[in-house]
Amino acid sequence: MSTALFQQGSLAIRSVVLSVIYNLCSSLGSAHDSIDPMSNHAQHFFEHGWCRFDADARLLRWVESALPAARAARADAHHAHWLRYQGTWFAGVNALANHADSSVDGGEPLQGEVIDFIAAELELGAFEWDRAQVSICYPGYPQPMPGESAGRTRYRRERDAAHVDGLLREGPGQRRHLREYHGFILGIPMVEFDAGASPFIVWEGSQEIMRAAFAARFAGLEPTQWGEEDITDAYHAARAEAFARCKRVEIHARPGEAFLAHRLLLHGMAPWREGARAGPDGRMICYFRPATFGPWKWLHNR
Ligand SMILES: [Fe+2]
Repeated sequence: MSTALFQQGSLAIRSVVLSVIYNLCSSLGSAHDSIDPMSNHAQHFFEHGWCRFDADARLLRWVESALPAARAARADAHHAHWLRYQGTWFAGVNALANHADSSVDGGEPLQGEVIDFIAAELELGAFEWDRAQVSICYPGYPQPMPGESAGRTRYRRERDAAHVDGLLREGPGQRRHLREYHGFILGIPMVEFDAGASPFIVWEGSQEIMRAAFAARFAGLEPTQWGEEDITDAYHAARAEAFARCKRVEIHARPGEAFLAHRLLLHGMAPWREGARAGPDGRMICYFRPATFGPWKWLHNR
């Protein structure tokens, strides 16, 4: 065999070998790399009721543009009433001065994989963003708060103050009524902090327990009347079922990452773990919970 032919032959063999190795690596590399990452997220989200999104430069740009406003919200004397549990939690509900397109101080609106997911999988693209909650925890959370019953304090410490958003307490009996219909809960860490720094807690799959319980409770009633119903008993029974049947999961994420929770998911916030660290900004997370539709879609949308 001439040298030229040999080289030609060996090049062909090399090319075949490389192609086999490449194909092998693509299929072995990770089974989920070859599947659309969006559908992976969708499967996790709809089955478990939540999903975490990897670091995204577009989302990080938003975090950088919004961080000064989040710090200003914490420092604003008008927000002093949000500092609770002996100064260990700044609840900061709707405290971020973002615009309805989610931008802050001339920055860009929220962008990134999680925003694409909300549009594609939740089919929510055109809505007004609410003013974000600036939720900040500090070491020692939760300390007892004056005026709070021992039972509530215990529930906060032992059950992470677990709740479903939008079911507000009303009247002297503090009975629960469905008053807010959030499309989703989007959590955006604003700074670095340890995983034990009062993480967001979810009970995986509890969204379907809640859906079934509320569908039964509201059966035969017009959606416009649902808010008038006292749903405390049905809610408490569903919550007990979720505690018994669902896995409790702690969620930690870093700036640039995000987590998304289903609107019907039972969720809460864990006590600060001994030794967990955060910087001077504490465990600062912005939460968006836009009102995207009415009661019927709140209950029945995927
Ligand atoms: Fe909540």
